[in-house]
Amino acid sequence: MLWSMATAHRYNSVLIPSSVPHQTIIVLDFGSQYTQLIARRLRELSIYSEIWPPDAPAERLRARAPVGIILSGGPKSVSDPGAPRCDPAIFDLGRPVLGICYGMQLMADSLGGRVQPAPQREFGHATVALDARGPGELLFAGIPAALRVWASHGDYVTAPPEGFAVVATSENAPVAGMVNSPRGLYAILFHPEVVHTERGLEILRNFAYRICGCTGDWTMASFVDEQTAKIRAQVGGGRVVCGLSGGVDSTVAALIVHRALGDRLTCIFVDNGVLRLDEAAQVRRRFERLSLPLRFADASDLFLERLAGVTDPERKRKIIGATFIDVFEREARTLGDVGFLAQGTLYPDVIESVAIVGQSALIKSHHNVGGLPERMRMKLVEPLRELFKDEVRAVGRELGLDEEFVVRQPFPGPGLAVRILGEVTRPRLDLLRRADAVVADEVKRAGWYTKLWQSFAVLLPIQSVGVMGDERTYEHTVAIRAVESRDGMTADWARLPHELLARISSRIVNEVRGVNRVVFDISSKPPSTIEWE
Ligand code: XMP
Repeated sequence: MLWSMATAHRYNSVLIPSSVPHQTIIVLDFGSQYTQLIARRLRELSIYSEIWPPDAPAERLRARAPVGIILSGGPKSVSDPGAPRCDPAIFDLGRPVLGICYGMQLMADSLGGRVQPAPQREFGHATVALDARGPGELLFAGIPAALRVWASHGDYVTAPPEGFAVVATSENAPVAGMVNSPRGLYAILFHPEVVHTERGLEILRNFAYRICGCTGDWTMASFVDEQTAKIRAQVGGGRVVCGLSGGVDSTVAALIVHRALGDRLTCIFVDNGVLRLDEAAQVRRRFERLSLPLRFADASDLFLERLAGVTDPERKRKIIGATFIDVFEREARTLGDVGFLAQGTLYPDVIESVAIVGQSALIKSHHNVGGLPERMRMKLVEPLRELFKDEVRAVGRELGLDEEFVVRQPFPGPGLAVRILGEVTRPRLDLLRRADAVVADEVKRAGWYTKLWQSFAVLLPIQSVGVMGDERTYEHTVAIRAVESRDGMTADWARLPHELLARISSRIVNEVRGVNRVVFDISSKPPSTIEWE
């Protein structure tokens, strides 16, 4: 991730002091690809964590009263012009600080140590020697003296600042860890947050529990209770409408609001005509089972009418987005006076609302109801704003969602319209739905579904010659897309076993009339995208 000024604006919304009363560790983000991972790891340790901009003023941090501060890694050298720096006063707040990689170099540089380009850069696995006696005893308690770690740095600290003891070294770094325990300042050159670092989670746990005094007060059950109270306070005697996408986030948001307000919540589900096989009916059944008040708007005719003759992907998206808003607004107005709109916005959407890493971040932040709250003058209720996706899943389980739904792969808002190249018509949708159902079924049976970020079928705009029985055919081609990814920003095509591909191919050709050819997409993102469009 390249550092850019836009980054500074990403966090505006998180600078508003959070209402969360938990012990909090604040991570200052110097642009590392692992920053979010640090916050997630802390939360796995039952510690609430927020990501803040690198130059957040010390006074704001003091006001938020974190129990500790972590300085993330980052792609720059501290000596680069424009390299991000922290307010040096954070080292005097009386709160423990842990610098990781760039964070360590910055700590050293800010406090009078020496940072230089390393003659031998360390990227990937390295071995460090740790000293868990003396000043390193709290951070490295219970950690072996020789540790395989994940490193990624071109600079290193050649002389620690005054008052610091060296507590770790590696072959290429004379100072791989340094501590000033009276001031509560700790730093390591490697990344404890990545799984390639042995015992990394324990090092973070030591920092949080032994050094910052965390007690582990962040659990999903406590989260649900707090949000319930918060929603009651925000909404008072008012009413809330929630736009359901059919996915996990909006469903969990609806469940929490329902817990807080009962039938003062109404959910609206819009069938846009480009859903998967049986999907609309499944949503209905799930909501009945959960006793959530649902208004079901079947607007598939309207969507397909407006999509008729349209082949340009951007136009398709715009039509679907605008039609969704029309339908949603119409439905919401029939409910009378509703002052609040509930949305399943997640924490990564909040910190990435200015996209610097590509289009996907923007897509996610827009959601399906972009522009609606302003138009209808509704206030937003966003109970998941503080959560990562895996935490939303945990809350979903806590609130009674079935496992199959909780681990569902993402599905794009514009649905199958971005998987039909060319015009979206009913016959083409029918064909793609059946092919897609075969892919889902076989991928699940083979035990691959939860290992993949997404797996689906795409209908290509070409026909080709084939032979079936004794007859020549001239029919459609379906492409299979299966990718592995951490967040959808980058993705690698999945190495599905040939037997699985063979089963998918033969079932599609046999079961879906109109298809005589199946191909497998072996492109990664970048340079391709996940969806075809
Ligand atoms: P691409 O195709 O850009 O997709 O590599 C990245 C991820 O985003 C999903 N996606 C969307 N999700 N509305 C959504 O809610 C959209 O318009 C949209 N377009 C793409 C896609 O499925 C993948 O997971």
